[in-house]
Amino acid sequence: MGNFKFAEDFLFGTATSSVQIEGGDTNNTWYEWSELGYIKDSSSCFTACDHWNRVEEDTKILQDLNVQTHRLSLEWSRIEPQPGQYSEEAIRHYREEIKLLLASKIEPLVTLHHFSEPIWFQQLGGWSKPENKKHFIAYVQYVVEKLGDLVSEWVTFNEPNVYANLGYLLGIFPPGKRSLLEYFKITSALIETHIELYTLIHELRACRGFLGQTKVGVAMHIRFFDGLTWLGRRTAALVDYFFHQIFIEGMVRGKLKFPLISLDHKKIKKTGYADFFGINYYTRNIVEFSLNPSIYFHKCVTDKKLDKSDLCWDIYPEGIYRVCCRYYRKYKLPVYITENGLSDRADRQRAKFIVDHLAYLAKAIQEGIEIQRYYHWTVMDNFEWLEGESAAFGLYHCDFRTQQRTPRPSAMLYAQICKTKIIEQNPINN
Ligand code: BGC
Repeated sequence: MGNFKFAEDFLFGTATSSVQIEGGDTNNTWYEWSELGYIKDSSSCFTACDHWNRVEEDTKILQDLNVQTHRLSLEWSRIEPQPGQYSEEAIRHYREEIKLLLASKIEPLVTLHHFSEPIWFQQLGGWSKPENKKHFIAYVQYVVEKLGDLVSEWVTFNEPNVYANLGYLLGIFPPGKRSLLEYFKITSALIETHIELYTLIHELRACRGFLGQTKVGVAMHIRFFDGLTWLGRRTAALVDYFFHQIFIEGMVRGKLKFPLISLDHKKIKKTGYADFFGINYYTRNIVEFSLNPSIYFHKCVTDKKLDKSDLCWDIYPEGIYRVCCRYYRKYKLPVYITENGLSDRADRQRAKFIVDHLAYLAKAIQEGIEIQRYYHWTVMDNFEWLEGESAAFGLYHCDFRTQQRTPRPSAMLYAQICKTKIIEQNPINN
């Protein structure tokens, strides 16, 4: 492939999440989890990038990167510190942050749930109690009323499949449960909540006459599970069903697939519940049969031939092409790559990683796959869920002690791509 120019209306962006960058909040489940010592390097999300106090500085970084869109999440535990009590100060803070993005000609894509929750929500039993959904739904109503004039595009849940798997099956995310029953139960609750929110956000923005076309979707963590043997392929199909299909069919089509059961028995309409298909793509897994579920989602089998990120994840750019083709052909929804990136402290692989993944997106686009956005994960090194401060996903290095942000060489390349929307076959070596 030679040079490729993405269409003018294709938007390049970056993605972040509140707990991973903001710091200073003691009211969320990840703070508690950090305090309990579950993070590999014993760090805490209380530090992170101090973004809460550095919004202007960090928006300037986004301007320097020439992004046209930015995906950020709102911290529920800051906005609703106690059940039913909303913080005017927190919502004002996010309003200012979003206004700054808009003034910089950066379109916000706002995530409502990105793994973290208020501690009080978990104390009430979290998603395991079907009646608790109402807390999140009321919270979202408040947020959309307060910010819906500025934000037209929303992600309800970030990676509900990872949240459920790691939090309720493997027990390595809060709330640290290991129960198949709970896993299926909360999966139904997340799906049914998404369905309600999809309609609610559309209705609220429409009845307030807020400008801009409302778009609502989910950012799904999607991998390719490839089996190499007969048994491996059968296992891969099964893992794919439980890790992807039950979530996607639920959240996109409103179908509760076996073994999920409806918790609220509401009527589902036929039109679907997503205006875009959000894909967080990082890697693919080789699947071999095992009775230990951890092997499929966490301590994965890798392909010895492929380069690895710092976290030993296989670098497999072709996977982004395969997932886009697969899900676009199935659901015919415009694709947003809501996350893609790698941990690479030395920045030896990031530039090539970006170009190679974009080249595969270009290939898909040329074949008629409607891909509209690419959000790079992430702007600067931040608090990574399992690894804490020891992972380095940033285009910028962040020194967590001095809070100094320093661009890595790949940041220059990404800024250039965002500006020109052109990828060259091998711009790194030119
Ligand atoms: C999550 C991010 C995370 C990234 C790298 C995604 O699963 O949405 O929050 O930092 O992957 O692990």
